[in-house]
Amino acid sequence: QKANGTKKSGSKKQKQSQRIRKEKPQQHSFTHRLLAAALKSHSGNISCMDFSSNGKYLATCADDRTVRIWSTKDFLQREHRSMRANVELDHATLVRFSPDCRAFIVWLANGDTLRVFKMTKREDGGFTFTATPEDFPKKHKAPVINIGIADTGKFIMTASSDTTVLIWNLKGQVLSTINTNQMNNTYAAISPCSRFVATCGFTPDVKVWEVCFGKKGDFQEVVRAFELKGHTAAVHSFAFSNDSRRMASVSKDGTWKLWDTDVEYKKQQDPYLLRTGRFEEASTMQCRLALSPDTHVLALANGTSIHLYNTRRGEKEECFEQVHGECITDLSFDITGRFLASCGDRAVRLFHNTPGHRAVVEEMQGLLKRASTESTRQRLQQQLTQAQEALRSLGALKK
Ligand SMILES: *[C@@H]1O[C@H](CO)[C@@H](O)[C@H](O)[C@H]1NC(C)=O
Ligand SMILES: *[C@@H]1O[C@H](CO)[C@@H](O)[C@H](O)[C@H]1NC(C)=O
Ligand SMILES: *[C@@H]1O[C@H](CO)[C@@H](O)[C@H](O)[C@H]1NC(C)=O
Ligand SMILES: *[C@@H]1O[C@H](CO)[C@@H](O)[C@H](O)[C@H]1NC(C)=O
Ligand SMILES: *[C@@H]1O[C@H](CO)[C@@H](O)[C@H](O)[C@H]1NC(C)=O
Repeated sequence: QKANGTKKSGSKKQKQSQRIRKEKPQQHSFTHRLLAAALKSHSGNISCMDFSSNGKYLATCADDRTVRIWSTKDFLQREHRSMRANVELDHATLVRFSPDCRAFIVWLANGDTLRVFKMTKREDGGFTFTATPEDFPKKHKAPVINIGIADTGKFIMTASSDTTVLIWNLKGQVLSTINTNQMNNTYAAISPCSRFVATCGFTPDVKVWEVCFGKKGDFQEVVRAFELKGHTAAVHSFAFSNDSRRMASVSKDGTWKLWDTDVEYKKQQDPYLLRTGRFEEASTMQCRLALSPDTHVLALANGTSIHLYNTRRGEKEECFEQVHGECITDLSFDITGRFLASCGDRAVRLFHNTPGHRAVVEEMQGLLKRASTESTRQRLQQQLTQAQEALRSLGALKK
């Protein structure tokens, strides 16, 4: 249809505003009584998050060519500002802080390699981000599914969806190549103690390796340590507790499992199973898993839903549905375990971890009954009161 004079300019304007609306589509909206905050700055889908080990920052990366660094101390404020690092001519699919929080590493979507960004503190409290001149050499032949930096700062891990896991030094030299023999890797991670690298994939086990260094800090070898055996189908994902003494896993067999991995594998001790819970959704689709630092709460995500389980009782405590406009791409507790963060679309959503507070209440009530000294009783009572206060302030105290 041909428009005349005035109409034409009007429709041009309309088209322009339509184009703007197209570029900035409506954000998915979500409300819940336990939603603590929504972090919005990215203009593309967020694929990965990482909390710094000092607990101060959250890093996110998206396909909008930026990495954002958020301050965890304003999570409960009305405004959430972020600092932006640009990923020139590419975008990051994975991001991890260095243990000293003076750098972060990203996996480049198009570059298919690892880039290091230095973080320099500015006088105004912000950071200047500078990419180091040389990216790591390209070594992987299949898409990379996870990266990590050991908390000791001694090595970097990259894992791809074939059966390869690479162990690098910080200069970008490969120290060791692990063949997981799992047909396809679906997840891999470094333990918080930095001693182990674990992987899961098409086979029904989680394999754990030890990355060994000499007394002088020189790399020696990677050796098989132990396995988590008990699932009857492929394992989608797993996680370590913050002290590396427990692990959780979720499998296509429709269950999740919690394991005690505090064993001397060199003396042929095997990890043992503490709990199995049902999660039927896992039998039909890929899912994500996060374990609270104290192991009390397990978060499982399928599609756009999140389910929280009490690991001691094995029961489901909360369920959040349609949290994001796209499938959930990452799920993580903050280092205190007070919040659970999820991402998938352009926002990060933060939830109050009420099942975590409730688990502390249950644990303290049990311990109080057995407390033998007055000082122990006082300490337990204090923790109990704190957890009850937290629940009361969230309107979630159950009688
Ligand atoms: C042109 O504009 C006039 C008045 O603004 C309107 O009556 C007429 O239908 C328009 N013609 C077309 C082809 O849109
Ligand atoms: C986010 O991802 C979905 C599906 O992968 C895609 O349809 C959508 O266009 C993406 N949005 C942006 C803003 O990139
Ligand atoms: C599984 O691994 C093979 C190579 O071993 C690779 O070609 C394929 O892309 C992988 N599949 C997935 C889903 O990543
Ligand atoms: C995830 O599981 C819940 C049931 O617990 C279901 O309602 C929801 O549709 C599932 N999500 C997807 C994307 O399948
Ligand atoms: C693990 O997390 C708990 C709860 O946040 C904390 O009290 C404990 O100190 C942490 N332990 C380690 C080894 O980081």
